[in-house]
Amino acid sequence: MTSISERHDTAGWQAIDRKHFLHPFTDTKALHETGARIITRADGVYLWDSNGARLLDGMAGLWCVNVGYGRSELADVAAEQMRELPYYNSFFKTANPPVLALSELLAEVTPAHMNHVMFTSSGSESNDTIVRYVRRYWDVMGQPQRKTIISRWQAYHGSTVAGASLSGMKAMHAHGDLPIPGIVHIDPPYSYALGGDLTPAAFGLRAAGWLEAKIIELGADTVAAFIGEPIQGAGGVIIPPATYWPEIERICRQYGILLIADEVICGFGRTGHWFGCETFGFKPDMMAMAKGMSSGYLPIGGVMVADNIAQKMIDEGGEFFHGYTYSGHPTCCAVAERNIRIIRDEGLVERVRDDTGPYLQRRWRELEAHPLVGEARGIGFIGALELVRDKGTRQRFDPLGEVGTLCRDFCFANGLVMRAVWDTLIISPPLVMTHAEIDELIDLARRCLDLTAGAVGIPS
Ligand SMILES: Cc1ncc(COP(=O)(O)O)c(C=O)c1O
Repeated sequence: MTSISERHDTAGWQAIDRKHFLHPFTDTKALHETGARIITRADGVYLWDSNGARLLDGMAGLWCVNVGYGRSELADVAAEQMRELPYYNSFFKTANPPVLALSELLAEVTPAHMNHVMFTSSGSESNDTIVRYVRRYWDVMGQPQRKTIISRWQAYHGSTVAGASLSGMKAMHAHGDLPIPGIVHIDPPYSYALGGDLTPAAFGLRAAGWLEAKIIELGADTVAAFIGEPIQGAGGVIIPPATYWPEIERICRQYGILLIADEVICGFGRTGHWFGCETFGFKPDMMAMAKGMSSGYLPIGGVMVADNIAQKMIDEGGEFFHGYTYSGHPTCCAVAERNIRIIRDEGLVERVRDDTGPYLQRRWRELEAHPLVGEARGIGFIGALELVRDKGTRQRFDPLGEVGTLCRDFCFANGLVMRAVWDTLIISPPLVMTHAEIDELIDLARRCLDLTAGAVGIPS
């Protein structure tokens, strides 16, 4: 039997795409003018399209393919599990070996105070689960007035109704009358945009202070939780100063509100620790996970719950009326379990922390010398470049986003996947990327910055 890829050529696939497929986050009419790029295969850190062009995947898919492409052991695990027990649910007092093995392994690799997990199929579902669990928790605690969740502008927590409400993207809120009641936003710890002349340490404290001000404005006894990505990914790889998270944690404890880490991007090694909260030194009450949990090989997510909260809900909460058909899907769990073992057994987290992460960051920062780049920042295997008209004054291009998109398109045309968030170019490569592949990424990025500078009339 021929593979699906061989059924059509590029034009054939694009015709079907135009006729039937509504892409996520896409202006469909504009896409139809150019036609979709059809990705047909991948190996290691490379993708190939239907025309045979090779791309270095600087985004690990969508921040998720941590162990790289082409891991046949994950395909084997999936095939074996599908033959044995492809699916069964975990409702009605049942469980299955893969969901239990994965639960046990997650308890080992997550922070020591977190030993209970609920499963979902995505990051959005994980955050939806958190909204419901947090609100239920405060009911069980006898404080039902604590319902408001504080999030941040430029956060991304997903695209479901609750996920998009938690997200701080105004364009998303405009679609579907969001946010839902009980979700409010504060400004992010975005030094390059909001830090002015403050030192990073001082700005981190100021940005954390915005949380305290919001809690006081709302009335502390109405606030249920604060949620944040350790590093805001889709909002432009916003990396808080070292002072930020410890102060956020102090404020949450002072006012008795829950601290939620959305680890959907940062989790499973991306920042050089298993979880971003460990990189930034704070202990969340709950964590949303997905993406790197299975390296994207199958859809799965989860929510880790701190012991004291899980125990309270177990002892006094009764039945929690929540769950999905695919919560604890045996095949997804088997693949996630093997994926996490690969990350652990190959020492990928330590490699990113001690070797390839520091190397990537050193080389990435060389790009700051480029006339278009106002700042090159990053941690571990995540990075951002701020493209600006004037480096001295941090003046942005007008209209915002056009130059970023131009550069992103040059990258695609020249064999590199980088993503543009307005005029911030971002990377999040597979954790298996080698020194030589990092060198290739930097060379390609520099070439595309030169092409972009040329197109907007800035000498490079
Ligand atoms: C931090 C964060 N949370 C949640 C999500 C939503 O995950 P999903 O697309 O799997 O629903 C994303 C997706 O990019 C994310 O970056």
